Amino acid sequence: MEIVVAQGAGFCSGVKRAVDKAIEASKKAVAVYTLGPIVHNNQVVSKLTENGVKAIENFDDIIENESYLVIRSHGVGPSTFKHAEELGIEIIDATCPFVKKVQRKAKQLYDDGIQVYIIGDPNHPEVIGIKEWTDNTAMVIENKDEINSINIVENAAVVAQTTLREEFFNKIIDKIKEQNENVIIDNTICEATKKRQENTKSLSDDVDLMVVIGGYNSSNTKKLKELASKEGVITYHVETANDLKADWFKSCKKIGVTAGASTPDWTIKEVIEKMKEFENQKQSQESEENKENQ
Ligand code: F3S
Repeated sequence: MEIVVAQGAGFCSGVKRAVDKAIEASKKAVAVYTLGPIVHNNQVVSKLTENGVKAIENFDDIIENESYLVIRSHGVGPSTFKHAEELGIEIIDATCPFVKKVQRKAKQLYDDGIQVYIIGDPNHPEVIGIKEWTDNTAMVIENKDEINSINIVENAAVVAQTTLREEFFNKIIDKIKEQNENVIIDNTICEATKKRQENTKSLSDDVDLMVVIGGYNSSNTKKLKELASKEGVITYHVETANDLKADWFKSCKKIGVTAGASTPDWTIKEVIEKMKEFENQKQSQESEENKENQ
């Protein structure tokens, strides 16, 4: 059985930067907090908790003095910075530079009097943050059916959640253009996401089965699973090696592996090791059977 790992699987530069900054801060401060889990991956969150980085719901949960608040790669709106400043909490801004770019664009468009539309998940922290930079005036479009009930005004611009599927973004844009041909389009899907998706897609065409590794709550991992399934290959989404089932691989010769932007290397390695273990078990079982039949 051959196992091929998609290029660029696992931590993207933005997530790695945020995790590194949080660990670095934990060595210096009495306490380090993040508003919500630093990434949508339970294993990374547990590891950071062990290092003293606490994921909290809101500012009321900050109990220690001399603490740092690390802004996650998803970014936040201006009110979080303001609130931290009022409370005298030191901020370590680990917003991914690609997300920062979208926030700045959205703010600029808003300042120029242009109505901003964000294509993405309205409940995702990144989208909530970007929206806040437009004084919450931006409208979020989650799917193309919604566009029938939304009025795309004349002076309008569209940006995207950085982890969207490109094909999905383009479909929504086509629909928006039916209403307003002159809308400003800014495809803000990040390069790391685009590459990861392209590599996942091409690998899916070349293997018998795909394994997508990442948090069950990770939106970019879920999108990789969708993408691979759409290519017609049997695809399983697992969070850790414990979720794998030996039966999946019984008649497979070539397996593709990919992982979301918030999946650490150690989880990818554990999953691959477990798959190799299954293969070894299968081979020894087969040789036992052969001996019996001789
Ligand atoms: Fe940044 Fe793209 Fe990762 S926006 S956090 S590099 S998925």
